[in-house]
Amino acid sequence: GRYQVFVTRNDMPQGGIDLLKKECDVKMSTHPSTMPREDLLKAVAGVNGIFCSLTDKIDKEVLDAAGPGLKVIGTISVGHDHIDVAECKKRGVRIGYTPDVLTDATAELTVKNLELRWRSFYRHHAASPEAQHEARCGGWKSWAPTWMTGPGLAGSTVGIAGFGRIGQAVARRVKAFNTKKILYFNRSERPEAQEIGAIKVSFDELLTQSDFIICCAALVPETKEMFNKAAFEKMKKTAIFVNTSRGGTVDQDALIEALQNNTIRAAGLDVTTPEPLPLDNPLLKLTNCVVLPHIGSAAIETRNTMSELTANNILTALKGEPMPAELC
Ligand code: GLV
Ligand code: GLV
Repeated sequence: GRYQVFVTRNDMPQGGIDLLKKECDVKMSTHPSTMPREDLLKAVAGVNGIFCSLTDKIDKEVLDAAGPGLKVIGTISVGHDHIDVAECKKRGVRIGYTPDVLTDATAELTVKNLELRWRSFYRHHAASPEAQHEARCGGWKSWAPTWMTGPGLAGSTVGIAGFGRIGQAVARRVKAFNTKKILYFNRSERPEAQEIGAIKVSFDELLTQSDFIICCAALVPETKEMFNKAAFEKMKKTAIFVNTSRGGTVDQDALIEALQNNTIRAAGLDVTTPEPLPLDNPLLKLTNCVVLPHIGSAAIETRNTMSELTANNILTALKGEPMPAELC
């Protein structure tokens, strides 16, 4: 018979769903948003493939609920901290993900987040940034020499923590702003850094020397809360911190404190703990913090490509073939 694939959201971009339907029996969540856990556990029973997103925790319990026929998990994300990779490996369940195809979109949003000075320059105006608010609501009284000012990128030192695909793509873009220096911190040496002109430094050097500090590191045990109280205290008082990777790389209470006490100047976040961020979270009340709702890869073409790649990962795994993007 045909393979059974379960899709955990009913709002996955259509391209991937159409690809799956040609060769598999596809069942989709009927829930308007992230599936409640109990429904997910019931829905995956007996399936051969699961098309999921970063909002689904794929752990032992889900794998058990699916049963021994499960061959593949395809996540429509580059991050995979929501998947128990070791447990999948143990059971021979292959994992597909979406590296590369979202690098440009995510790097774009990251660079926009650096320019807190231009708070209206987000891809989605609905982000309602402060400068836009001033223009719309009468705060714009006159051109004024120090109003709405912030540090520019030209002549600055930019530090990137995590120099993988996205970190490098950010560096290439940031270079075009006439930055003085690009520093990076990464566990392993990155040969691409030479051509980009980025300099490898220790984490401490990155923190103390950078005007802009960007987190592009995947969330793994070694990077969990690497941006803690001590890290924020080492940063310049004028530093701007940007995170577009995962909220878990930051001790968020320490960040809130650093922003409240002006230990650092400002932060631009596309990721938080938890997601969505509760409306009473102090981060949403701080005027020196911009919070975006995890939209790094949210370019239309990118999301379509991610959906198709996820489908192709699942289809190839089901046939026992090499996957276009298999997590090692
Ligand atoms: C988004 O955060 C992703 O991991 O793709
Ligand atoms: C990091 O997020 C990467 O894509 O390398």
